[in-house]
Amino acid sequence: MPSYAITGAARGIGFEFVNQLSTDSENIVFALVRSKTTADRLVALGRPNVHILEADITNTNGLKAST
Ligand SMILES: NC(=O)c1ccc[n+]([C@@H]2O[C@H](COP(=O)([O-])OP(=O)(O)OC[C@H]3O[C@@H](n4cnc5c(N)ncnc54)[C@H](OP(=O)(O)O)[C@@H]3O)[C@@H](O)[C@H]2O)c1
Repeated sequence: MPSYAITGAARGIGFEFVNQLSTDSENIVFALVRSKTTADRLVALGRPNVHILEADITNTNGLKAST
């Protein structure tokens, strides 16, 4: 059961990585966003193997707190 952590997951190339990886229900995908308020498209995917986490990768403490 592979696991993936994708940053910048709310839009752009990050969102598409999450979208494509999570089509395989065997994959667990951790989707990191700076704010859940901008994660509408991720939520709309409605995939139980996608776990949305709030984290700014420039904030070490915030990143640790998200795990
Ligand atoms: N698009 C392509 O085809 C392509 C090809 C090769 C390389 N790249 C590179 O890949 C990167 C992303 O491209 P993109 O087109 O997907 O850009 P984008 O649509 O502007 O998306 C950037 C993503 O990065 C997130 N982000 C920015 N700063 C962050 C931080 N400090 N902590 C956590 N997340 C942060 C943004 O989050 P928010 O939603 O919260 O703003 C957003 O989700 C860029 O460096 C680009 O040069 C892109």
